[in-house]
Parts: sequence; structure tokens; C-alpha cells
Amino acid sequence: MGKKIKAEPFKIKAVEPLNIITREERDKRIKEAYYNVFNLKADDIYIDLLTDSGTSSMTDTQWSALMQGDETYAGSKSFDRLQEAVERVLGYRYVIPTHQGRAAENILFGTLLKKGDLVPFNQPFDSTAAHINVNEAETVDCVVDIAYDTQTYHPFKGNLELEKLHRVIKEVGKEKIPFVMLTLTNNSGGGQPVSMANIKETKRAASKYDIPLYFDAARCVENAYFIKQRESGYSTKTLAQIAKEMFSYADGCTFSAKKDPAVNIGGFIAVKNESLYLDLISRLVLYEGFYTYGGLAGRDLQVLAQSLYEMTNEDFMEQRIQQVNYLGESITGAGIPIVNPIGGHAVFVDAKRMLPHVPQSRLPADALAVELYREAGVRGLGLGVLAFSKQDTVTGAVTFPETELLRLAVPRRVYTDRHMDVVSEALSRVRDRKDEISGLKITYEPSRLKHFLSRLEPL
Ligand SMILES: Cc1ncc(COP(=O)(O)O)c(C=O)c1O
Repeated sequence: MGKKIKAEPFKIKAVEPLNIITREERDKRIKEAYYNVFNLKADDIYIDLLTDSGTSSMTDTQWSALMQGDETYAGSKSFDRLQEAVERVLGYRYVIPTHQGRAAENILFGTLLKKGDLVPFNQPFDSTAAHINVNEAETVDCVVDIAYDTQTYHPFKGNLELEKLHRVIKEVGKEKIPFVMLTLTNNSGGGQPVSMANIKETKRAASKYDIPLYFDAARCVENAYFIKQRESGYSTKTLAQIAKEMFSYADGCTFSAKKDPAVNIGGFIAVKNESLYLDLISRLVLYEGFYTYGGLAGRDLQVLAQSLYEMTNEDFMEQRIQQVNYLGESITGAGIPIVNPIGGHAVFVDAKRMLPHVPQSRLPADALAVELYREAGVRGLGLGVLAFSKQDTVTGAVTFPETELLRLAVPRRVYTDRHMDVVSEALSRVRDRKDEISGLKITYEPSRLKHFLSRLEPL
């Protein structure tokens, strides 16, 4: 007997038809989109793996929470529900709602950072790094070296290298480091988790210098799932227990609730310290709104509260990770190189290896995204030079990132495994004609967050 088949732990109550346009039409649409997949329209896409952010299917209990939203401007009951949920699930007393993750970054970083500061990270996400840069501060990647090796297995490639952290603190002094941050899971490095031991050690190391530790916690439950699977001592704990332990080691977090909680919009900051909370809400009023709604409707606060309880559902999380794994294994089975191990929310195809003849200056990750769309109407996201190159503010010299990855991010409970088969088969066909792909050039680029807005052209 083979492995026991496990099906989705839900049944489907509402469906949304998909539009499939022809290859000729897709060629036209991608040209009109300036070869930047962000400019494509929903009706021109068959399977959308651009992001798992705000694109998941909600449960019936999440939908019904919407109707219980209290739209009172100040003192909304829905805010109280959110505060209760944050305290019970994450263990933090103070919550500051924001319209999404980057708004939380704006509020936290704008309050804590000053010109010339440095923020050691495992690795920041692109919007996170941009928000740090806007405050004239810099991030320092302190992720373990093995994170850059896309082929070798390591259970916790999101870990922070403590040696690198100590070195930065010694070199610049703790006064220039207002906080250390861990992205859970590490999206930029391939959706890779951070171990509980590493979280604890990072906290201990930062505390030695009185530096607080914050989490970018968007996918904290996926991180908890990997701890449960891979770290000794956690296999019998629940995801809820593991997540709560993780949060106990941090001083606070920014949270894009569009990921693990699976809401369509929402985010927050949660902190332990009251005086920091008071500083944060004075900035919140300026950018997001009063502290009991922070840029969200009462109904969104109510759904978010419900979602925090649901995000640690063991069956849903297992199905989610297993579906991503299924996609990853089908792609590797076809001989296409991906980041190993397969990440929590996405499969990251190694575009440098898949298209070795396309130099980094010709944007292999973005070129692969364009070709996958042309092939089958599947939208993924190129994460390479366009998203992560760094320019020295003094010399103007540009540093390319180590990796060029095509991210195929899977929304939660939206597509079936059959859709995943379509994706891996399409990618195989692109691989079979890879010699036709010569890369892209930039015809317009904004000064920051280039991959969202740049215009490109095939070479
Ligand atoms: C790790 C991480 N942090 C922060 C963000 C920003 O969150 P939002 O899109 O809600 O602004 C994202 C979004 O994808 C992310 O993946």
C-alpha cells in the first residue's frame, strides 16, 4: 500500500470562474503591460501566483465576522475584539491596527529610526527595506550564509547568523542600532523558517546590548509549522503554543495580516511596552487614523480578530504547506532547479540556474516570469536585480543580489492541486525552449521599489 491520500480539509461553497485567453492575446497583453507582470489585468490571467498576500479564500466564519463589524469611529467594539485576540494569540498587550503590513512598517520605523541607523535583519522584504531607507537608515543582511546556497538542504535557512550580528554591533556601536528584526518566514530568502533556538539566541544577543528584537511576523504560523516538523522538542506542541512561544521572545512585531491570517486587507503592530505604544499611536493618527481603527473599517478589524484565532488551525496549515510542497516536487521532478528546501508559501525557481545563458544584468528572474505568463497565463513574480539591487548613495555603485528567483506564491485554499499541475507543466515547456529567452532591459525605472513600476522590453 502506498501513502494514505489526504484531501483538502474543507469543502467549497462559492466558486469564481477563471478566464483563459489565447497565446496570441497573452503576447499582446504582456506587451501592453510593458513586460512587467504587475501591470497585467485579472481577466488576462489564468492562475495567479503573483502573491499569497490578501488573495486567500476566507472561511465561512471569517465571512460572517464581517457582518459583526462595529463601525464606531472611536472606541469600536471590533477594536476590542482585535485587542483580545492579539493578547490571547500572540501575548502582546498593545495593538495598533494599520491598513496593511507596510503601513505598520511606516509607523514603527518612522518612530524608531533616525538618519544613519542600521537595522540587522535575517533578510528584509522589499517594502520593509524601502521603509527603512525612506528614514535614511540601512538594513544589514545577517542571514546564515547557507541561505544563499539555493541547492543545499538546511532546515532553517531563515536563521540569523549571530556572528554577523555581533560584528555589526561591534563595528558601528549599539547607539546606531535601534532594533534587530527577524522576518518569519524569510520571504526574500525563499520562504525559509527561523528555528526557535535561533529566535531565542538572537533575543539573548540583542538584549546583551539592550537592543530590542522585532518580528516581521506575516507568516509566523508557517514558521511555527516548520519548527513543529523540524526542531526537536516541538512535535507534540500545537501551532498555537509554538507561535505564542516565538512571540514571547520579541519586544513587538509588524504584521501583514494578508498572509497567514488570510484576510483580504489589514495589518498591525503589536508591542509590549506602553510608552512605545503611546509614541506609535501619535504617528498612527497622522497616517492611518484613530488608534481604534488605524486605516481599517470596523468589519475588517472584526474579521482580523477572528482570523488570528483561525490562523493556527493545524489542518489548514498542513494542507497549505503540503500544496506548496506538491508544486515544488512536481517542478523538481521535471528537472527544474528550485530553492531547497521548498518554502512555506511559495516555490522559488532558481532563474540563474534555469537560464544560465541570461546574465543578471538582463533580469533572468523577470524574463522567466514573462515567459511563464506567455506560455500558460500563469503569473509568478521575478525577485532578482529589479527587486533587490542596492545602489551606494555616495559612489552610485550598484550591487546585484546573490539570487535570481521566480516566486510562485500559492494563495491559501484558492487553487486545487490540478492547477499546480498546470503550472509545473507550463514551466517544463518554458524550460524546453529556454534558449529562445534572452532577457529583458529596463526602459523606465522609478527611484525605489523598482519591480512594481518599471517598464521593460525583451532583448
Ligand atoms: C515578509 C513581508 N513583510 C512585509 C510585507 C508587506 O506587507 P503588505 O503587503 O501587507 O504591505 C510583505 C508582503 O508581501 C511580506 O511578505
